[in-house]
Amino acid sequence: MEIKLVSPFDAHLHLRDGDLLKTAAPISARAFAGAIAMPNLTPPIASLEAANAYKARILAHCGEPFELVAAIYLTPALAARDLEGVKIVKLYPIGVTTGAESGVTDIDRYDRLFGAMSDRGAILSVHGETNGEVLAREAQFAPIYENLAKRYPRLKIVMEHISSIALVNLLDRYENLFATITLHHLLYTLDDLLGGRLNPHLFCKPIVKTAADRGALRKLAFAAHPKVSFGSDSAPHLRAAKEGASGAAGVFSAPVLLPALAELFEAHSALGALQAFVSDNARRIYGVAPAEKIVTLIKRPTIVPDEIGGVVPLLAGETIAWSLA
Ligand code: DOR
Ligand code: ZN
Repeated sequence: MEIKLVSPFDAHLHLRDGDLLKTAAPISARAFAGAIAMPNLTPPIASLEAANAYKARILAHCGEPFELVAAIYLTPALAARDLEGVKIVKLYPIGVTTGAESGVTDIDRYDRLFGAMSDRGAILSVHGETNGEVLAREAQFAPIYENLAKRYPRLKIVMEHISSIALVNLLDRYENLFATITLHHLLYTLDDLLGGRLNPHLFCKPIVKTAADRGALRKLAFAAHPKVSFGSDSAPHLRAAKEGASGAAGVFSAPVLLPALAELFEAHSALGALQAFVSDNARRIYGVAPAEKIVTLIKRPTIVPDEIGGVVPLLAGETIAWSLA
């Protein structure tokens, strides 16, 4: 049995820089036709110039054509005049996740910027969490999404890596709200992370939640809800950074994404929705047009390596029922 996917697109990807970039770039470029690269480097990718230089560094390691959009980090210095040529601006509330140290404190300060983005058709991508109690952070951000959606009705707002029912419920309430969903939030709950022995390789922001939350995300993905794109949030950290006394948030899922999605969608009789979920929706929502790339998946087991370039991938050591041809 075989599945042919046309131009899979990863709408939320961390490719890092330096040695990690060398590891990560070819892995995504092999399986995907393109991606949106996240800007939370140190220092952040905070201007079009920095984004173009970063894109060139990424492409140098891809080894094949890869349609890249590099998102620009919303630092307090970003102004409406900096938007020329910018497609996506990423908003991190300060301190909420890896690399969010340069993020924003007072969202109301960016009124002119959001107005200008809306005029220009730029997309606002948001890490929607507060600094509140860890399981409530996303739900606490829901009123902020609502305010933004109402105030800028022509601004496309992407609620990144949604993980809770609270945000699933917002999606259809505002025409201009969209979302991405990761593989790990479709697969796991808190029990997998810390119900038995602690699995630091499932630790990410936002944290995986309850079975009911996961069920609501699955319903969107398995129906390929037209306002939802697949965005892996694959975020490599070296093994020592994940397994040390202070474990970094981030799941390196890039090496397993399409085979693991095929396995999950097949188990839920949803293979018919996979093409729209991993490509068509993103192409429409972001207006991207990657060169056609046919990616074939075969029903043949893959054994996931224990480590790739010093990073432990998602599902390390496990067998997935599907492989990339
Ligand atoms: O778990 C996460 N890791 N969530 C994010 O938002 C950022 C990412 C990273 O860059 O490591
Ligand atoms: Zn991310």
